Amino acid sequence: MPALSALRSPGAVLHRATTAHLQSVYPGICEGRGFSRGVYIGRDLHGGSFTYDPWELYNAGLLTNPNMLVLGQLGLGKSALVKTYVYRQLVFGRQALMLDPKGENGALCAACGVSPVVLRPDGEGGGLRLNPLDLGLAGDLHTRLMERIRILSAVCGASLGRPLTPEERLALELATDDATPRSRWDIAPTLRDVVEALLHPSSGAAEAASTTQDALAAASRSVALDLRRLVDGDLCGMFDGETSAAIDLAAPLVSFDLSAVYGSTALPILMACVGAWFQGVLAGDPSTKRIVVLDEAWALLSNLETAQWLRASYKLARSQGAQYLAVLHRLTDLQAAGSADSAQVRLVRGLISDTETVVCYAQHSGELPATRELLQLNDEEARTISGLGRGVALWRVGSRSYLVRHWISPQEQAICDTDQRMRENLREFRETQGSTVVNSGDRMS
Ligand SMILES: Nc1ncnc2c1ncn2[C@@H]1O[C@H](COP(=O)(O)OP(=O)(O)O)[C@@H](O)[C@H]1O
Ligand SMILES: [Mg+2]
Repeated sequence: MPALSALRSPGAVLHRATTAHLQSVYPGICEGRGFSRGVYIGRDLHGGSFTYDPWELYNAGLLTNPNMLVLGQLGLGKSALVKTYVYRQLVFGRQALMLDPKGENGALCAACGVSPVVLRPDGEGGGLRLNPLDLGLAGDLHTRLMERIRILSAVCGASLGRPLTPEERLALELATDDATPRSRWDIAPTLRDVVEALLHPSSGAAEAASTTQDALAAASRSVALDLRRLVDGDLCGMFDGETSAAIDLAAPLVSFDLSAVYGSTALPILMACVGAWFQGVLAGDPSTKRIVVLDEAWALLSNLETAQWLRASYKLARSQGAQYLAVLHRLTDLQAAGSADSAQVRLVRGLISDTETVVCYAQHSGELPATRELLQLNDEEARTISGLGRGVALWRVGSRSYLVRHWISPQEQAICDTDQRMRENLREFRETQGSTVVNSGDRMS
């Protein structure tokens, strides 16, 4: 623009003004409605560039919590947004811990120079282990015991598909206490130690529960056998020992590929175990700002115990310098998990109230009423969401809303392209279908 190049010419007197004032002399300039510090996300369709950083917004008093929810139908760009957001945040020294249930983060990891941590049961070529009870060195003995019980309750709840009974909870507490080495309190017990202590309770544990060792073992047998699944059963080899030294805690991106159990009932159990291990990392050094990405978060939210655990983790996020970022297709699944006033629905509402950044892609018309009600969207916001295309979302950041077209740079295309995988799957499917047709033709002739 001539006016601006004239300003840059030698000898020109530079003048700074806000975009709001410049609008009066040049109407083509829009107000920068977004917050100027943070990573570039894309275009604010009613303004200029849209940038975002939860910690900057928190420091500026525009957010009271850093957590984020990304919501929308399949294929509209949720994962692409999350991957590029993480990728761009790493430049600012942030660390990302990601749960990747579908195994989609390979290209992102490669771009960041790290390898994904692929968790597989022993029988399926596993090898890497995490100890979900390894909490780093934060807190005193009692605090750690309570934290471990919180984690174990979530893992058992996910596995049993129901909350623990008071007897089971007490037995778990006593077994975890017994499994914790007294002389080396810096050493974490393993799940194997806890299962052993549950199956064979000590006389001290029985005394503390005012019962016999046999009665205590019987009361907690379901819990013991369910946890045993992770130690000696079909899920063994991932969480039954010390954390593998090969897992680099200091890497900018630590992404856990859980695709070995995607689509099975074991997914929430693994997500809870890895999520629990994240807690130890977060407690270790709160000065690093971390993004914890929970893709397919419904798997954690659809179970009362894991949802409770997640709610408590969200509450800790601020003090740990962490942003929890959950990705969901729709909120109706969560509402269906219980009656309108059930504990689970109340938990989900609580989680949403602890999430001040909501990114909403288009929703099916049947899902809009629930989304609208749970997120308390106004008429205009609800109407806007129903007509959005791929890559465009309504961002609600604190009390303000923005309509943003997410931008993917040419260098980032490869880390976002899930269509390519879909095309490959479709080709493989067609090839298989083709051979089936030939075979059946052969039989007919
Ligand atoms: N803002 C965007 N611009 C262009 N292409 C996009 C954009 N967002 C997503 N895509 C493409 O759309 C496809 C589906 O996106 P994805 O993030 O996997 O969807 P979702 O996670 O919502 O199912 C990907 O191949 C991705 O590259
Ligand atoms: Mg996705």
